[in-house]
This record gives sequence, structure tokens and C-alpha cells, in this order.
Amino acid sequence: MVGLHDATRGRLLFGGDYNPEQWPESVWQEDIRLMREAGVTLATVGVFSWAAIEPRPGARNTGWLDRVLDLLHGAGIGVCLATPTAAPPPWLGALHPETLPRDESGTVLWYGSRNQFCASSPVYREHAARITEDLARRYGAHPALRLWHINNEYGTACWCDTTAAHFRAWLRARHGTLQALNTDWGTAFWSQRYGDWNEILPPRRAPYLVNPAQVLDFRRFTSDALLECFTAERDIVAAHSPGVPVTTNFMPLFAGQDGWRWAAEEDVVSVDVYPDPAAAHDDPAGPAHGALVHDLTRSQAGGPWALMEQAASAVNWRPVNQPKPAGTMRLWSLQAVARGADAICFFQWRASRQGSEKFHSAMLPHAGEHSRSFREIRDLGAELARLAPAHGTQVAAGIAVLHDWPAWWAADQPGRPSAEARYPELLAAWHHALWQRNLTCDLAHPEARLTGYRMVVIPQLYLLTDAALDGIAAYVRGGGTLVCGFFTGVADADDRVREGGTDARLRRVLGLETVHEWWPLAPGATVAMSDGTAGRIWSEDLEPAGARTVATYAEGELSGRPAITRHTYGRGTAWYVSTLPEPAALAALLAGAAEEAGVVPALPGLPAGVEAVRRGTLLFLLNHTRAPVTVRLPSPHTDTLTGHTHPAELTLDRHGVAALTPHTPHT
Ligand code: GLA
Repeated sequence: MVGLHDATRGRLLFGGDYNPEQWPESVWQEDIRLMREAGVTLATVGVFSWAAIEPRPGARNTGWLDRVLDLLHGAGIGVCLATPTAAPPPWLGALHPETLPRDESGTVLWYGSRNQFCASSPVYREHAARITEDLARRYGAHPALRLWHINNEYGTACWCDTTAAHFRAWLRARHGTLQALNTDWGTAFWSQRYGDWNEILPPRRAPYLVNPAQVLDFRRFTSDALLECFTAERDIVAAHSPGVPVTTNFMPLFAGQDGWRWAAEEDVVSVDVYPDPAAAHDDPAGPAHGALVHDLTRSQAGGPWALMEQAASAVNWRPVNQPKPAGTMRLWSLQAVARGADAICFFQWRASRQGSEKFHSAMLPHAGEHSRSFREIRDLGAELARLAPAHGTQVAAGIAVLHDWPAWWAADQPGRPSAEARYPELLAAWHHALWQRNLTCDLAHPEARLTGYRMVVIPQLYLLTDAALDGIAAYVRGGGTLVCGFFTGVADADDRVREGGTDARLRRVLGLETVHEWWPLAPGATVAMSDGTAGRIWSEDLEPAGARTVATYAEGELSGRPAITRHTYGRGTAWYVSTLPEPAALAALLAGAAEEAGVVPALPGLPAGVEAVRRGTLLFLLNHTRAPVTVRLPSPHTDTLTGHTHPAELTLDRHGVAALTPHTPHT
């Protein structure tokens, strides 16, 4: 099967987006010299180059691209060639305004920026296919070509009339008849019944809450419509370059695509990660969030993945854009390698002097090659070359965290018990608790086979399909450990509430009779529990039936009622957590459950802020704190990065990293 290994060819890739069309050709030679100096092995070319390649409708201007690819090839640098379809030229919008997207209110999103295309527009698709076909014909067999990069960060939703017609066709395929659609959407409510397919619209701006099942289907549809654009271009390039893998870069934990469905269509799963440097020192959620995105991307890929974009230092799109403190660009890059990345790339190679991103950092900053930032880039290039033993290897994880996009789309809508319960924050809080204890986890689709995991964690899955519920029940019955967060299994695939507070199958697994009522907490409020800890965001009035109460609420209306329960089901164990325990309490709860389930941390007993992950034969240790830390080792280890052997302990500098292998003395 074609995959990332076809692009990496035995070593970790290192590089970034390269936009030579924004520079005079005289600068290109310097680019090549400095890329070589930095150890760059991959340049992503053409991401937004549509107007440079097709300056007028049907014209082709590829001489510059020929020269760029040849130059890179001559320097031994591979090319990740992008289709330029994320940035249609102004002429397309001017000639064909119907290719421009419209928002919920019908307002046109004009050219003059990027991403101004309607995924449902046949005219857009035709123009995109044509330029993709020409690029694939011209460069499909170019010796520099390592990887195809389709479009860029797909995500533009559209509410126009063309989209409406496309949405109706999609709905026919999903629901079959109009009667079934009316039933599945519950249109008896508020007189929303449809008598004709042509009456159905995308969920446009309305006086009050829009039908939630319609919104859910529209999010599914939008993801699928964009995916059709991806697969159409993918099939074109694949036909001209067998053996060259194809990717499109995801945004991290992005709501606009069903990431499981998308990943299944890619040869290489890649993601863009931009942690806030301001979080580097004071906010432990910074590196934990990176770890979550890495774990998710690796799980989507089912193995090694590509970090397609990150910033060398500051970005330009936060209200305040701070540079990355010394050492953190390296630390976060090696964190990605530790968690399965086989390619570490940046946006972008050379900092722009014009345009909206001229204050975004780059591998080669405005300050030039004699800068801290370029030195750190060059050093990273050299270190990645030393990390060849990591290439192609797997990350060991004994825990699966269940995650799904439709559950997110259904849960994070208005009209729910609490707007404080936000899906991505709950997911991050639970993942953070595992990360803190160095319990490495994969993320998994709720219908995935779970038998390979000793423990399964559900932070929150408001929507669960019948297949998922059956699979989870079978997993626990067969001996698995489940730790399940609140407001899970509440709705079916059409956002129809399953009565009893959660699905009856899940209640049997959890040993609960019913959930009488949800009692969400006021913003910022906490509720004390009998074990001395406190919960946030949510509480529930539970009625156990077989489950043992582990902790009760200790104040308020639910004082004395169960908060956390535990139940033996078949040969397995199921915990239910009806609030969001404060961070330390959640970490302790998960660590206890993991220990009982036989899951061991990558390295136990580490000081706070030190991350440990095992990848292949390597044990990565990453110091996310600003002070040096000393770590005791179970046996002598050698650091692949320095070549030094550490008999019993090792000191990591501020933001230091080690990639250790057990030391085998020569005999
Ligand atoms: C995204 C895009 C890039 C660039 C960066 C800036 O990741 O893909 O083109 O705009 O953001 O951070």
C-alpha cells in the first residue's frame, strides 16, 4: 500500500512550505543554499499558486515551477507538490460568481483573500480538476516528487443555492424518502414539516434555534462535500503518479471535517499544529494540547503521520503573537516525533515581506540566517537526521479515548442543558489527565474494535450509534475497563433522545437504573464530593442499579447522591463519572483505573511537567518546564541525540529532550 514511507524513504522528513513565486529568482539560489545548510529534505511547493500557474482562464505558466522543481531536485531536496485549489484566482470569482461561497445570511465571501470557493459548485470543481490534471501530467513523474498535497486545510462551508441542491441530493441518499426525513428530523416540532424536497435548505440564518437534526446533517454533508473535492483531485494525481502518496493537511482538532472518514481516504495523514507560545511556561495545557493533536493524528493514520505545518516562532493571527521561547520549537517538534510523526515541517520556509502573513515567523526569518530562530532550525535539522531509529516505528498505547465528530456536532449546539460543557474542552481535560500521568493513549472511533486496549475512556459522547453501544458493551463484558464521562449515549444518530438519561444498553453496562435529571453547574462553580475533591461544569441525579458508589456529592441539591460509580459487568469494569473532576482528581481517578486494568505509564514517578513516551525502541523524555530536572532511570540508557550513556539518572535542561535506548554494554 502507498503510504508515508514512500515519501520518507527511510528517514524523518524536514522542511516547509516554499513560495518562490513570491520572490525574484535571484533569491532562489540563496534559498537552496540555506535549505541545504539547515538539512531540509522536503519543500512543499504550489499551495496557493493558482494565479501564478493560470494567470488567465485556460493559460498555463509553468516555466517557473519547472525551474523550482529542478533546482530542488538538483540539491537533493524532495518536493511535496500541492494542487493550488485553495486559492482560486480573482478571474474565477469575477467570471463565475457562483463559485464564491455564501454564509448563513446569504452574504458572498469575495476574492481578495483565500479559500473563496463553494465545494458544491460544479464550475469550481471543473476548474480545480483541470489545473490538477495539468499539474499531474506535467510533474507526476518528476524525480523530485515525494508527496502530493491536495488543496489546503479544507474547511469552507457554504449556504448558497447550489449547495442547497447538493444538500438535498445528499439527504435523499441518507434518508430515502421525504417522510423518513421528516421523521428523522422531528419536523412535527414547530411546524417544520417538509412537503417537497425543494423546500429544504441548508440551515440558514433564522429567527430562533434551527432544527438540531438539520444542523447535524448539514455538518455531515459539508464534510462530505469537501471530501468529494479532495477525492476528485486525489484520483487525478494518483492516476499520473502511481506510488506517490497523497495527503491534505488537517487543522488540529478541527470541527469542520469528519476526521475519521477523511483519514480513510488519505495515503498520508498530516496536520498543522500551532500551540500558543504564551502557554509554554505558565499553562500546562499547551504541551498537553499538542500531545492530544499528535495522538489523534497518529490514530487517524494508524501509524506514522506528518506534521505538515508549525511555526518556527510567532504566528500572526492571535491577538498577541509572542515568539516561541528558546528551545520550545525543538521541544514541540521532538514531541511530535515521540508521538509518531515521521515528517516535521513548517509554514513557511522564508518569511514573506508582503501580504497578510508578513509578520508570521518562518524557518528563515526577516532577520536572516544569523538569527536565533534560524540557528534553532538548523540544529533541529541535524537532530532529526540522528533520529532515524524512530522512523516508521509505532507508539505503544494501552488506552483508547473514544472520539467522534458527529457526537461533537450534535453536543455543541444551542438548546442543551449547559453551554459550559464544550466537547473539545472536555476531550482535552480528560486527555490532559492521562498525559499528566504519562499514560499514552490512542484515540479511536466509537465503533472501532477495542479488544487491543486494556482501558477505554469516553470523556463525552452525547451521540452514540447502536453499533457503538453494542461494541462498547461487548468490550466491557469481555473483560475491558471503561471509564465513562457524563452526558454520554444520550442521543441516537439523528439526535433523537434515548430515554432514561442514557441508552438502556449503556445503563446496564454502568449499573445505573436511570439519570433522573442533569444538574449543570453555574459558570466557574464547583461542587464538593465526599472524597474531598470537587467537580466542575456538570452534576447528575443518578439512580444506581448494581453500581457501587465511589464518591457522592457533598453539597447542594444533590448532597448525598452518587457522583462517581463503579460496576462489574460481565468480566469487565465500568466507571461512570457524572461531573468533570478537578484536574488532579481526574488524573488520580484515571491512573487508579489504569493501574487496575494493567496499563503502565511510559515511565512512572516523573516530576511534574516531564513527559515520557515510548516509540519503537526509544524512550522519549521531554521537559516542559523552565528549570532543569533530574530523572531517575530504571537501568543505564544511551541518548540517541547526544550519544551519552546515563547509568542511573539524567538531567534534562530547561525544555530539554532525550531519546533513550537501553544501554547494552559491549562484551
Ligand atoms: C495555516 C495555513 C498556512 C498559513 C498558516 C499560518 O496552517 O495552512 O497557509 O496560513 O496557517 O499560521
